[in-house]
Amino acid sequence: MLKNIAVIGAGTMGNGIAHVFAQYGFSVTLIDVNAAQLEKAVATITKNFDRQVAKGTLTAEQQQQALALINTNTHITSGVKEAQLVVEAATENIDLKLQIFKQLDEAAPADCILASNTSSISITKIAAATKRPEQVIGMHFMNPVPVMKLVEIINGYATSKTVTDTIFALSTQLNKVPCVVNDYPGFIANKILMPMINEAIYSLYEGIAGVTEIDTIMKLGMAHPMGPLQLADFIGLDVCLSILNVLYNGFGNTKYAPCPLLVNMVTAGKLGAKNGEGFYTYT
Ligand code: CAA
Repeated sequence: MLKNIAVIGAGTMGNGIAHVFAQYGFSVTLIDVNAAQLEKAVATITKNFDRQVAKGTLTAEQQQQALALINTNTHITSGVKEAQLVVEAATENIDLKLQIFKQLDEAAPADCILASNTSSISITKIAAATKRPEQVIGMHFMNPVPVMKLVEIINGYATSKTVTDTIFALSTQLNKVPCVVNDYPGFIANKILMPMINEAIYSLYEGIAGVTEIDTIMKLGMAHPMGPLQLADFIGLDVCLSILNVLYNGFGNTKYAPCPLLVNMVTAGKLGAKNGEGFYTYT
């Protein structure tokens, strides 16, 4: 079984993924070129473990054991040299991801599985940047990673069944529920979620209802934990726009065309919770 995991990218998703692997006893090397970002990530992981300890779902001793399993590294080459699995959670930028996977392919052991946490970039395309496309797979965690039960596993065109089975079993070891899907734009999670968010933004744009009404209707009427506009802010409006464009271009269907209000908000720099303003304001 896999034991040594490397996680690329110490942002929100990367630190959540490192948290969960360490919690379930895996050795984790968290890799980011930015040392300050790594420090911040370890502080966030510690704070999130504190929450679990305060709630009694983790003991202080388990927290210490988990934290001791996390190492950090600012270099990909040394960071992945003993990895059996790498989970890439870098920024959603295709050129950056292709470059990272080329580097991983050169630096990671030959039998290491290379996974991406991408929310919408083609796994087949990422795999084609390596000489081991059968060992490349999508492992899409949801935010907040320690809380959300799903792992969407995405088979690239060339992903081998052994690799899919390994990642499926591994996800259950993390106490997650894995679902295997094929590599088409938006996979399943975002192919279904983003049109709902876009429709909510269209409803606001068309003046059918206000922000509070749209979110309250979906929260209370459909038992969603967050309304679609609050969720869009939580995900990031720039991320929503970029995923809608992947769907629109990938399927060539206008039903995925991003709402002009979303385009305007992103152009104006209103990106949601992360920079203080989206459909709501954040302090
Ligand atoms: N780490 C650890 N635990 C966390 C956490 C974190 N970062 N954030 C929240 N929690 C825990 C809290 O401690 C709390 O635990 P208990 O229920 O055991 O007490 C629980 O989560 C609920 O948190 P809160 O009480 O603080 O707040 P809440 O009830 O409003 O829930 C939420 C917050 C979990 C984020 C909830 O609103 C929710 O589920 N929202 C929807 C999230 C969602 O849809 N995520 C998917 C986004 S799409 C995506 O990620 C993929 C993509 O490709 C775009």
